[in-house]
Amino acid sequence: MSRVYNFSAGPAVLPEEVLKEAAEEMLDYRGCGMSVMEMSHRSKMFEQIIGEAEADIRDLMGIPDNYKVLFLQGGASLQFAMIPMNLFKNRVGDYIITGQWAKKAYQEASKYGKANAIASSADKTFSYIPDCSDLPVSPDADYVYICENNTIYGTKFKTLPNTKGKTLVADVSSCFLSEPVDVEKYGMIYGGVQKNIGPAGTVIAIIREDLITEDVLPGTPTMMQYKTHVDAGSMYNTPPCYGIYMCGKVFKWLKAKGGLEAMKAHNEKKAAVLYDFLDQSRLFKGTVVKEDRSLMNVPFVTGDEELDALFVKEAKAAGLENLKGHRTVGGMRASIYNAMPIAGVEKLVDFMSDFEAKHK
Ligand SMILES: Cc1ncc(COP(=O)(O)O)c(C=O)c1O
Repeated sequence: MSRVYNFSAGPAVLPEEVLKEAAEEMLDYRGCGMSVMEMSHRSKMFEQIIGEAEADIRDLMGIPDNYKVLFLQGGASLQFAMIPMNLFKNRVGDYIITGQWAKKAYQEASKYGKANAIASSADKTFSYIPDCSDLPVSPDADYVYICENNTIYGTKFKTLPNTKGKTLVADVSSCFLSEPVDVEKYGMIYGGVQKNIGPAGTVIAIIREDLITEDVLPGTPTMMQYKTHVDAGSMYNTPPCYGIYMCGKVFKWLKAKGGLEAMKAHNEKKAAVLYDFLDQSRLFKGTVVKEDRSLMNVPFVTGDEELDALFVKEAKAAGLENLKGHRTVGGMRASIYNAMPIAGVEKLVDFMSDFEAKHK
């Protein structure tokens, strides 16, 4: 068996220990003679799996009791519609456009009411986070929406926007559990798990209780009401059982590693290896302003498309996979989520250094 260093933006690298444990339990989960994939979601075994998963994420993030934790399906993209359908009371949402995912959420919300783009970094290809200290927040806004870490462009909000008292809703798909968060600053935090937590197919939403009501937009399908899932403990219908089981294992792995403070330190150290190299390189250049750089997604270019393509090809041959930039941006992108070991980033930097010596 040989594993590559996988820099994919998602689905992405998972901790090897977790994969091994899941492999060991594949045919016979703890003596019950079947895989978690084959098990009734109403069984005692599965109840324990989902219960522990919720308790562990609550513990890791310090989620207060007045917030619900939901395990949902439909990808992060379904939330682009569920958020306005459930949270629109005045039918007004303020969006900060820092990339494609925020823009998609904004466009979806505009189907259901008035979505306002109150700030944007589109003028410089989303290479920075706009100043959000004094935004024109709408007096009747139901919420202010951000994509906290921009997977494609490699930017991250280091300071949350001043929402002037309005509820903050954040898509944290690509920075979930990468560092401590102060949950109380948000009305809702959500993300697809396929980047930092588990296999694609599960979405985790953490929502403050007062936002979960029956007062949703007319016509909102039952499956798209948060209250449906809250009332049924994420088991209104068959949940993504195997995904939840894997998320639960990653939560335990994170706890064993020292929790989110330790993860932040690990991620900062790891990202610094790559950013320090980029800052002194004469061939490769990071594309994001320094103060807004993501710890998770690191885009870079040589400035020559053919050289970029050669780099991606040769890196792959050297066991460094999925370094091609997003199709809309080009160049390269290294996604270095929690489970990427520092040795993977060091190997990447060594490879970049050799490539530079040959091509500069
Ligand atoms: C920040 C962010 N939000 C939303 C999405 C969309 O996620 P999904 O494919 O689960 O709908 C992605 C996917 O890459 C993402 O990076």
